[in-house]
Amino acid sequence: DQALKIAPTLIRWQRSAGRNHLPWQNTADPYRIWLSEIMLQQTQVATVIPYYQRFLERFPDVISLAHGSLDEVMALWAGLGYYSRAKNLHACAKRIEQDWQGSFPPDSRSLETLPGIGRSTAAAIAAFCYGERAAILDGNVRRVFCRFFGIEGDPGSRQTLLELWALAELALPSSSFIETQPDGMRRYTQGLMDLGATVCTRSRPDCQSCPLRTDCTAVATGRTDSLPTPKKR
Ligand code: ADE
Repeated sequence: DQALKIAPTLIRWQRSAGRNHLPWQNTADPYRIWLSEIMLQQTQVATVIPYYQRFLERFPDVISLAHGSLDEVMALWAGLGYYSRAKNLHACAKRIEQDWQGSFPPDSRSLETLPGIGRSTAAAIAAFCYGERAAILDGNVRRVFCRFFGIEGDPGSRQTLLELWALAELALPSSSFIETQPDGMRRYTQGLMDLGATVCTRSRPDCQSCPLRTDCTAVATGRTDSLPTPKKR
């Protein structure tokens, strides 16, 4: 019931208050969207942008990347951190050339079989590229859902993650909604990311500006500062 209110509100909010001019948003090219999602896995938007642009100038498509040397890929990645992402990126390009005739897999399930693409990244790519109805759950989105649904417990624990994934599925726009609104999944997915990055931030969330505040459990129970529950250490 609470979950069903998220999608339409978030989609409307994304259109008017979300980020709509990021460099990877003016394309439907799966290669560009994939590259952006990998770079954004552990790195903020402002840091990613110049790396993303330099990378595309040198490797404009997946075949050029598959044929490039790992050394050159690593050099373009230098400074972004989490270097296994760059190795996986290169391995993934080779797999797409060899196993998929150079075109990206057409859905989240097959995307997830590729190196460096986990469940959430596969869903994000499929939603942005194909409008597929697939749930994301990255670090920011976990925080949004922990607060909105009032989920206690370490958001990285197995038990809590299972619960969060189930809620992420429930919160998706309905199939009939998606059918009547062709960019619905793109807006919804981007909206969740935008909300987590710009409003429902880790410290000092801007609840006044939040489109979901009237249904948020953390707001209703005064727990925006104590949710998500900090990691045990
Ligand atoms: N973080 C992960 N994916 C993103 C995207 N598409 N836009 C902005 N931030 C992101």
